[in-house]
Amino acid sequence: MMTTRNLEPLFEVAQLAMVNLYTPKLEESIKFFEVMGMLVVHTDEEGSVYMRAYEDPYKYSMKLTPHHEAGLVKASWRATSQAAMDRRVEVLSSLPQGKGWVEPAYGRGKAYEFTSPDNHLFEIFFDVEYYEAPEELKSKLNNRPQRRPLTGVPVRRLDHMNCLAKDVDKNVAFFTEHLGFNVREYLAKEDGTKGAAWLSVSPLVHEIAFMTDGMMEKAAPGRLHHVAYWFGDPQDLEYLSDALTELGIPVEAGPLKHGVSQAKCMYAIEPGGNRIELFGDTGYLIFDPTWEPVEWNIHDAEKAIIWYGAGLPHSYFRYGTPVIEDQEITPFY
Ligand SMILES: [Fe+2]
Repeated sequence: MMTTRNLEPLFEVAQLAMVNLYTPKLEESIKFFEVMGMLVVHTDEEGSVYMRAYEDPYKYSMKLTPHHEAGLVKASWRATSQAAMDRRVEVLSSLPQGKGWVEPAYGRGKAYEFTSPDNHLFEIFFDVEYYEAPEELKSKLNNRPQRRPLTGVPVRRLDHMNCLAKDVDKNVAFFTEHLGFNVREYLAKEDGTKGAAWLSVSPLVHEIAFMTDGMMEKAAPGRLHHVAYWFGDPQDLEYLSDALTELGIPVEAGPLKHGVSQAKCMYAIEPGGNRIELFGDTGYLIFDPTWEPVEWNIHDAEKAIIWYGAGLPHSYFRYGTPVIEDQEITPFY
């Protein structure tokens, strides 16, 4: 079979660099991330706390902002160059989703804010501050920005995010056309639309996914399903499950293996209410420049999400942040 894909690739967004979450329980949320070996590096004048995993390259990857409810504040994408950033801003500013420039902030330079079609808030930036470990946290491993923590179950870096959407296709079109993302895998509904999609700009299967909000009749747009951190070692998921169970922090699902991405993973709800996914094995990587998106039938949604491991709980397709009162509704798949 010859390739059927002949789109000119757009290498202008490099990676998911930072995520900012709301939490109604700041101290408990900090403790949760500390169990995962993450370090508080800064607190700003608004009371937001900045944390990093030991192989995050920049100053921080997680900003926790006190608020009356959990949810996504904003996620930050790093552009591949200043010129790439300027070109993306030119496009974004011509669209209804373009919001405008924001001033330099802790850890990064000037950024341009935009929303997804479902009103999730994002920004794109290029100038960034790299993390420089204090002497006592320097690693003897030359390619590691910070020594691996010797307590807790330390995660290595931020991996991806998953957003709940009322219209997955609109979000996919926005991210592919305007930001250069590639659809890697998707759930196809009988009417030809997508129930969920996993997209990336790198060899990872996804830096962002969109899934239909199972509570869409009740939900406001812009809900978050989860943010994921990466361990690189599936055994760490067992250690973390043990630690969280000891601490009374609910493990929602897993450890298990995904069909989509083939990653080994688990989900926990941090004390503030946000769902956090932990990746053990990354799964497969994509180097084929004309990769054809992999289709899963919507009726195979459970297999797509769980290749092996216990079934998904009721909450998986319904719970997101901000949290809304659960209702008896038909799941989307
Ligand atoms: Fe995920």
